[in-house]
Amino acid sequence: MPTEPPEPAVALPTEAGESAPAAPSRRTFIATTSAVGGVVVAGGLIAGTDLAGPGEASAAEASPASRVSLTVNGTRRTVTVDNRTSLLDLLREHFGLTGSKKGCNAGACGACTVLVDEHRVNSCLTLAVRLEGADVTTIEGLADGDQLHPLQKAFIEQDAFQCGYCTPGQILSGVGCIQEGHTGSPEEIREWMSGNICRCGCYVKIVRAVEQTAGRK
Ligand code: FES
Ligand code: FES
Repeated sequence: MPTEPPEPAVALPTEAGESAPAAPSRRTFIATTSAVGGVVVAGGLIAGTDLAGPGEASAAEASPASRVSLTVNGTRRTVTVDNRTSLLDLLREHFGLTGSKKGCNAGACGACTVLVDEHRVNSCLTLAVRLEGADVTTIEGLADGDQLHPLQKAFIEQDAFQCGYCTPGQILSGVGCIQEGHTGSPEEIREWMSGNICRCGCYVKIVRAVEQTAGRK
């Protein structure tokens, strides 16, 4: 009896920013990510218990929190967070910036995409404590006052969203895609936006919105 669905006939979307030809399938990516995460967690447990010497005990028992200073949408922020806090949770739960959405919380949907130092990242997979000095842009920081970002305007003009849940991540990813210059054709845009999943199937209009904005540059 089959225990796992067959691999799709076409390549599944890759994560934002991955090189297309060499990119692993989404399943491989998730499996790899989980495996690496498991190793890190296992390593942490080992360091905190079995392998810690007497002199290391107090450090191992100390609260696993750190201070981090970063700039979010132009505002410098300094917080003390649990070392395991993701950037997504820092944004949503500490800063009240709920525009970045939590979809899979595992790097597979792109709903949480933000820009870190102008590069798009899945904020659910990014540890906040590693962002000392970083410059983060979320959907809340994209507009210039009342002036929407050109890609935000294009999404409206192209009617590129339905429920809107994926839209903040799509727009941040689209901004990154345009900055990277991966807009030579609809196919290229699709490839480089393929880490962002839209459950409503707005892909045609999303691609048009990115094309429209890239053409205005
Ligand atoms: S919530 Fe981060 S990739 Fe899905
Ligand atoms: S617009 Fe609904 S998930 Fe994308």
